[in-house]
Amino acid sequence: MKNDLSFDYISKDILENRKFQKIAYESHHGITRMEHSLRVAKYVYKISKKLKLDYESATRAAILHDFFTNEEFGENHGLIQGVVHPEIALQNAKGEFKLNAIEENAIVTHMFPLNMRMPKYKESWVLTGVDKVVAIYEYFSYKFNYSKFTSKVNCKLNLAGIFAFYVITMGRK
Ligand SMILES: [Fe+2]
Ligand SMILES: [Fe+2]
Repeated sequence: MKNDLSFDYISKDILENRKFQKIAYESHHGITRMEHSLRVAKYVYKISKKLKLDYESATRAAILHDFFTNEEFGENHGLIQGVVHPEIALQNAKGEFKLNAIEENAIVTHMFPLNMRMPKYKESWVLTGVDKVVAIYEYFSYKFNYSKFTSKVNCKLNLAGIFAFYVITMGRK
């Protein structure tokens, strides 16, 4: 695996895709879905690169993991959206890009355990972990504005925790 691909190089074609650009107008955790997806993807890029995983696939999956518009759900928001949206994101991603097995699995399992689909690859575990930490950070920072309880430092500390967890887990094999 090449260890010198930049985030910009990996993300370029996705960010130029017209259908994907629609998520820049969707609200998500008090910001836009594009902002959320890129925040998750940048952490996934750093962590999976450090862990010497397939960081290109992990990053592409992270950018695409919430590739859906609210319109695609009609009235079905809340829990149903939480359970169903990984499958919709996967179908949208497959419609626009050629995905490999890691990318498909990481996208469709990122809501584990809510949607009961267990991640199969280490890259998928990194995405589901980072997405949760970032989502909690964003909910409290932007949606509810509880700045007393959250900070970028907290977000980074939790991500460092995920990183440490994977290093320890992988070291056991
Ligand atoms: Fe999601
Ligand atoms: Fe997400």
